[in-house]
Amino acid sequence: MKKINIAIDGPASSGKSTVAKILAKEYGYIYTDTGAMYRSVTYLAIQHQVDFEDEQQLVALIKRYPITFKQTETGQLIFVDGQDVTDAIRQPEVTNNVSIVSAHEKVRHELVRQQQKIAENGGVVMDGRDIGTVVLPKAEVKIFLVASVIERAERRFKENQSKGIATDFDTLKKEIEQRDYLDSNREVSPLKQAEDAVRIDTTGLSIEEVVAAIKAVVER
Ligand code: CDP
Ligand code: CDP
Repeated sequence: MKKINIAIDGPASSGKSTVAKILAKEYGYIYTDTGAMYRSVTYLAIQHQVDFEDEQQLVALIKRYPITFKQTETGQLIFVDGQDVTDAIRQPEVTNNVSIVSAHEKVRHELVRQQQKIAENGGVVMDGRDIGTVVLPKAEVKIFLVASVIERAERRFKENQSKGIATDFDTLKKEIEQRDYLDSNREVSPLKQAEDAVRIDTTGLSIEEVVAAIKAVVER
């Protein structure tokens, strides 16, 4: 069967990466977490003491330190300059600054180029904010996942609890709202649903139900 590209976009914690990973596994496709790429650049900026507003220096970091993904039995790892940053890029300092870094046009230009290269032969499930609108406008399947902010904060809260990370629910909710606001209101490639995307409200849906809904779209 012809390998297609599946684009999954949506706000923070709407379940994009969880369902994208499952779909990629089921179809034997490559999963690409584009958020991890923006997070990696933010992490590099912290490490190298580059100002989050310094677009030129951020681009220099991207050119100097290639971002690579590695598939393992236990999941996907992300490396920058040979260093495994899979866990480090989920730290609050990265999460709370990534939307500033991702708003720069030249930063996006560099990463979008890399993302398009990964998907050039099809067989990719890619999740992010602008996949259906900018990165893969010709993707055969486009999904836009949403859920109420309360439910999304609850999901992240439970996820943190299971990892033993102490978080305050209200702070988490505020951080999600703030990131959604910045991502939706930036000038370059804001978070928005592509006209031809299928919108799925996942509030109250289990992961299995969301996966089944997307598979129904793929098979159609
Ligand atoms: O997993 P979570 O929803 O927390 O976020 P993520 O997918 O890891 O993305 C982190 C941040 O990267 C987002 O809040 C956006 O600022 C940025 N991002 C983006 O601008 N464009 C993308 N295609 C993916 C992520
Ligand atoms: O990638 P994104 O930020 O959109 O979300 P995620 O990291 O895939 O999902 C955030 C959390 O919500 C994870 O702990 C998922 O297991 C959980 N989740 C859920 O409880 N129900 C869903 N329908 C989808 C995700």
